Amino acid sequence: MELTTTRLRLDALRENDADMLFHYRSDPEVARYQGWRPVSRDEASDFIASQERASLDIPDSWLQFAIRLSTDGTLIGDLGLHIPAEADGSYEFGITIAPVHQGNGYAREAVQALLTWLFLTLDARRVHASIDPRNLASAALLRSLGMRQEAHFRESLKVGDEWVDDVIFALLAREWALTDTGR
Ligand SMILES: CC(C)(COP(=O)(O)OP(=O)(O)OC[C@H]1O[C@@H](n2cnc3c(N)ncnc32)[C@H](O)[C@@H]1OP(=O)(O)O)[C@@H](O)C(=O)NCCC(=O)NCCS
Repeated sequence: MELTTTRLRLDALRENDADMLFHYRSDPEVARYQGWRPVSRDEASDFIASQERASLDIPDSWLQFAIRLSTDGTLIGDLGLHIPAEADGSYEFGITIAPVHQGNGYAREAVQALLTWLFLTLDARRVHASIDPRNLASAALLRSLGMRQEAHFRESLKVGDEWVDDVIFALLAREWALTDTGR
């Protein structure tokens, strides 16, 4: 599976991405509001290996894309896509961009490509993302894509030792069709 944009290529994570994946995913600022923070390079490597079996055809599973610069293939982040448990057209995603590459519009570009593919090719009905409300960068990203906040669950998730709030942003196919990308 491969998606391309003006500046990016989204494809499979490879074993030689392990150093870079570990480097940015273990950064405390990056991991602050996320459920997964690798504690070693080996854990990042195991995660990549586990993705070898990942497929769009496995219900209720996560498919993790590498986000690369199209110029030289540098890994700059990753994007996880949850395949619905039942074929109900409802997808979830989460995205991470390495700090050194943040603020360049890469997350927006990658998610726009993902949404286009989900709505046009996979015939998605609804796409959502789940974030910690303190994660202002993520909320800004999701709003900039036309997603709307539709739920705020108080202290509903345990991340490490902490109970945290969970905010859901979503977009329906017909709403996406009215955004700049979908038009
Ligand atoms: C959230 C994240 C992916 C954004 O990546 P990015 O490449 O820096 O985002 P972009 O440059 O594409 O910015 C997209 C929009 O969000 C806004 N934004 C991004 N970072 C922001 C910040 N720190 N504060 C306020 N707004 C911000 C941008 O202004 C932009 O809006 P605009 O298009 O209206 O100008 C990145 O900060 C990150 O990886 N955070 C850590 C991982 C994480 O918590 N992921 C959450 C899972 S959904």
